[in-house]
Amino acid sequence: MNDGPQTPSSSDTETESHTTMNSVWTTRTESGGDVAAIRDVNLAAFPTAEEADLVEALRADPAAWLPGLSWVAQAPDGTIAGFALLTRCHVGDVPALALGPCAVRPGHQRQGAGSAAIRAALRAARERDENLVVVLGHAEYYPRFGFTPASGHGIRPPFEVPDENMMALVFDPARPVPSGTIRYATAFGV
Ligand SMILES: CC(C)(COP(=O)(O)OP(=O)(O)OC[C@H]1O[C@@H](n2cnc3c(N)ncnc32)[C@H](O)[C@@H]1OP(=O)(O)O)[C@@H](O)C(=O)NCCC(=O)NCCS
Repeated sequence: MNDGPQTPSSSDTETESHTTMNSVWTTRTESGGDVAAIRDVNLAAFPTAEEADLVEALRADPAAWLPGLSWVAQAPDGTIAGFALLTRCHVGDVPALALGPCAVRPGHQRQGAGSAAIRAALRAARERDENLVVVLGHAEYYPRFGFTPASGHGIRPPFEVPDENMMALVFDPARPVPSGTIRYATAFGV
């Protein structure tokens, strides 16, 4: 981390920014000036405005939104192509993180932007001493980041989904991992 130039942040919720480079994508925490572009990315990536609206509702909820855990992947021309968000959830009564929405503009999909944003967000979470991340998503996609079925940890979603789609990532298995039902931030509406 911090191996590239610092990007100034104007967001009220940001405390710091990180910039890291891979061959194509610059990843950094969102700043206040990114809010409209992040909405655009989510509108472009999903069939409805549900995810774009969800991001804004999460950003407005101080119990859900954690500084430094909303990441964008930026193309060399400055376009924000990818987005990954971690927000506070609980497993039982124990704080954990929920990954999502994750979104990449259709024209930039399958070129590493999503992976870059997700890896950066997960790295930031680990550095903040978080230990558990849950995600509901494509069973072919998230295992590459270390996610495995949440049921293997006794972690359950508060709704019916195929077992393979509800996944969990534990950074340090030596630390206690809670089991129980996931309680998402209110904005998720579940
Ligand atoms: C899913 C998404 C975030 C992945 O980001 P991306 O930048 O396109 O993906 P990456 O380039 O990082 O990774 C490419 C890999 O992801 C896989 N992938 C991409 N979209 C996928 C999907 N919808 N289902 C399963 N796998 C998918 C590709 O098959 C590819 O696999 P490979 O490396 O084995 O060839 C992005 O495609 C997207 O926004 N999709 C639409 C919205 C969405 O479904 N969001 C996630 C909700 S769980």
